[in-house]
Amino acid sequence: ARIRHYKWDVKYEYKSPDCYKKLAITINGGTPGPTILAQQGDTVIVEVKNSLMLENLAIHWHGIRQNGTPGMDGTEGVTQCPIVPGDTFKYEFKVDRAGTYLYHAHYGMQREAGLYGSIRVSLPDGKTEPFAYDYDRSIILNDWYHKSTYEQATGLSSIPFVWVGEPQSLLIQGRGKFDCSSTPSAPGVCNASNPECSPYVMTVIPGKTYRLRVASLTALSSLSFQIEGHNMTVVEADGHYVEPFVVKNLFIYSGETYSVLIKADQDPSRNYWMTTNVVGRLPNTTAGLAILNYYPNHPRRSPPTAPPAGPIWNDTAPRLAQSQAIKARQGFISTPPAIPDRVLVFLNTQNLVNGYIRWSINNVSFTLPHTPYLVALKYNLRHVFNQSPPPIGQDLQNYDIYSVAKNKNASLSDGIYRLQFNTTVDIILQNANTMTTNNSETHPWHLHGHDFWVLGHGIGKFDINNDPKKYNLVNPIMKNTVPIHPYGWTALRFKADNPGVWLFHCHIESHFHMGMGVVFEEGIEKVGNLPSSIMGCGETKGFGRP
Ligand code: C2O
Ligand code: CU
Repeated sequence: ARIRHYKWDVKYEYKSPDCYKKLAITINGGTPGPTILAQQGDTVIVEVKNSLMLENLAIHWHGIRQNGTPGMDGTEGVTQCPIVPGDTFKYEFKVDRAGTYLYHAHYGMQREAGLYGSIRVSLPDGKTEPFAYDYDRSIILNDWYHKSTYEQATGLSSIPFVWVGEPQSLLIQGRGKFDCSSTPSAPGVCNASNPECSPYVMTVIPGKTYRLRVASLTALSSLSFQIEGHNMTVVEADGHYVEPFVVKNLFIYSGETYSVLIKADQDPSRNYWMTTNVVGRLPNTTAGLAILNYYPNHPRRSPPTAPPAGPIWNDTAPRLAQSQAIKARQGFISTPPAIPDRVLVFLNTQNLVNGYIRWSINNVSFTLPHTPYLVALKYNLRHVFNQSPPPIGQDLQNYDIYSVAKNKNASLSDGIYRLQFNTTVDIILQNANTMTTNNSETHPWHLHGHDFWVLGHGIGKFDINNDPKKYNLVNPIMKNTVPIHPYGWTALRFKADNPGVWLFHCHIESHFHMGMGVVFEEGIEKVGNLPSSIMGCGETKGFGRP
């Protein structure tokens, strides 16, 4: 195993990823940032310099389990103090499993300012994938806003509430196209011919097969991704092999990664569109476009056809069908424990707290404490967060998920769920109506520090007596991010076997900001000495110093 050493300088710079100039957070001058390439078993060291000048920072390694290194998860308020301007923080962790992962900012809503990138972990020498391909490529899909994260976060936390709205553009590998003629702007702010916003080009050699790693790190949008004239065979999800299935549209939610195989077997005399569209919300953003370039056609040559339209935005059925189609690949199945030790039912609702619009789980809206939980728990600082755990369930029986929340008022808490080490935990995520009539949203839930088995998805109210009988305990896929569909439920199972403190939250930036998350602690007594670099804020001043 090797050490992969990176040095990153994180700062604000003017960028025009969709032709519209705004301040973006860059790593070594770029957004997306550099791709981390490593091999299973390697140690990754990233020295991050916070050159944002006026803003704190933390970086999370999304999908990396941090077994034995809970302090390196990069989750501000949970596993570390923020990196203050001018400071350099050294992240050091092992990548113990091949697959496609991500990294992104985990402080405030910084992720959507452009601080994100890919982690690609290859198999150890001598091992081969259970599918064949000639070349390996990665893209990240994203949505992009012209307002700063400050304006957005402030609006979400104000009375009256100011919603962030639909994104201005969709980016494929950091490139999109905002229609400069659609809004009058100061001269030089929007420039359609800026090379920074020329579409991403993926060049292919006719006849070859490509493994394309597709990830989403959208702030809000659920997406559909398609390649004109080409089918995609799904073979990997969140670092786990998938029993292959073929799609024309790949539905992808923020925080998910997939590998698809594409064969360059179409008419080689032209190029093709790769497109991405918003689904699940009434779209008000034009499709994101990239070019699949058949060598030796000119990479900038526009395909002769109109870009394919995406699927109907409000048809949940094909999205649910894809969620249900994802199974572990034969020969690579990890069987879940047959029964859980504990079942947590998480009712997802939108509520009011003192007049502010918030998201809640079982009527509790999450707030981050000032002292990171990991340090607080390790040093037994009981007064720094609410010691009463949030509710372990909600009476679903008497809750009408199809009408506007009866539990209109919720409360704020930074209380956490404490799990018995090594127990098996089931989570039932139950969706419901928002505070708007006839509206239920999609929420991609992401668990830090673990992969979970996806036991089932359904629409309607979860039936605790009958739905568990239909769980897939034979070949469930393991993932770290999974959606709940509008008015639907999703059932997960995981082993609480990673000593530390782990966030579980909706990956939509504004939803998490508005309280849509919970925290789990497990095996804190097994956590070794914590690095002093994660301390210094709140009640941790002076802790961990030799
Ligand atoms: Cu990718 Cu806590 O997030
Ligand atoms: Cu959400």
